Amino acid sequence: MTDSIRISLGARSYDVLIGEGLIARAGELMAPYAKTRRVFIVTDQNVARLHRPALVASLEAAGLANWTVTLPAGESNKSFIGLEMLTRHLLQAGAERGDLVIAFGGGVIGDLAGLAAGLVKRGLDFVQMPTTLLAQVDSSVGGKTAIDTPEGKNLIGLFHQPRLVIADAAVLRTLPLREMRAGYAEIVKIGLINDAPFFQWCEANAADVLACDPPALAYAIRHAITAKAAIVAADEREQGVRALLNLGHTFAHALEAHAGYDGALLHGEAVAAGLALAFAYAAELQLCPRQDAERVNAHLESAGFVTDLRKLPGAPFVAERLAALMKQHKKAVAAAPTLILAHGIGRAFVQTQVDEIRLLAFLEERTQ
Ligand code: NAD
Ligand code: GLY
Repeated sequence: MTDSIRISLGARSYDVLIGEGLIARAGELMAPYAKTRRVFIVTDQNVARLHRPALVASLEAAGLANWTVTLPAGESNKSFIGLEMLTRHLLQAGAERGDLVIAFGGGVIGDLAGLAAGLVKRGLDFVQMPTTLLAQVDSSVGGKTAIDTPEGKNLIGLFHQPRLVIADAAVLRTLPLREMRAGYAEIVKIGLINDAPFFQWCEANAADVLACDPPALAYAIRHAITAKAAIVAADEREQGVRALLNLGHTFAHALEAHAGYDGALLHGEAVAAGLALAFAYAAELQLCPRQDAERVNAHLESAGFVTDLRKLPGAPFVAERLAALMKQHKKAVAAAPTLILAHGIGRAFVQTQVDEIRLLAFLEERTQ
């Protein structure tokens, strides 16, 4: 069965198709968007090895001429060097306006290929084919594309919406457990933002989702995408409510930049630690019940995440450096960090005018 969720953005609207075995139908599904019948697959070495043959067979069956650009895997390729390599490959392969780019991989490939598609010849159309849980439930939907720099995460980027998203849950069977867990962080985040019953569902079903149990996984993916679709439709360019999708992310992005994008700390692992920190900090400011912060932390730990910064991959973290990175975050206003915190489970809010001295003391307490 294939589910379809509409991302309603006027002329930029598109569908997210979710189901098992969709790679075999990818050619037929994306053919209406391939005006020149020429497509460029952008992927990484792991996904190419495991899943490219099935995609190519499906494109050929639909009569789509195709070329593949295969990049090394990992966050470190979401960089200026990775972007240069990819955009120049596309130009050298003769990509033209009217050709279609396929981002076939996790969030790294989605963000990088989406950005390259937005830049080459001032904009090519692209399709997202997310192959990690994280990319299926979050990064492939909503049109944010970016690369990282030493100054911080995702600071160079564009909004460039895909024409279609094809999420084949069957490809997740080859995904390592650590990567499944990283994606689960963005699922549980949805419950913590504005959906306490869904958080409760997560508490009861996390193990089944992580074990790729088909009904639990399908429910979690559909629920997370539906929630994200509503927020993106209400606020495509993040002028308001979309910021809530970054609950805990000001902490998370600083942890990732501090760790150095070398694969030691995965984005989803940083998000889980960031969610725990956001609740702990809100509790310390007496903006959130302490029991809620403890419940969130307990759930994340029972799902296998590390929330103690002293033990998190990438440690030791230096509080002053984390605080400086948080000021550099995209959401900073007048050089002061913006935090997405919560008044309780399912009650996220945006906090500007953060007390930097108090925040630094909080970080010092957790890093020493
Ligand atoms: P990733 O793209 O690095 O993929 C993780 C690993 O899994 C890689 O080694 C990849 O080769 C491998 N892989 C991918 N699919 C596989 C499969 N089916 N089987 C086996 N291995 C597979 O990481 P990710 O967690 O998917 O994405 C993280 C990135 O997403 C971060 O850069 C983050 O900033 C970004 N992100 C963007 C948004 C957005 O809105 N644009 C939202 C959330 C996260
Ligand atoms: N992942 C945050 C957003 O899409 O807005």
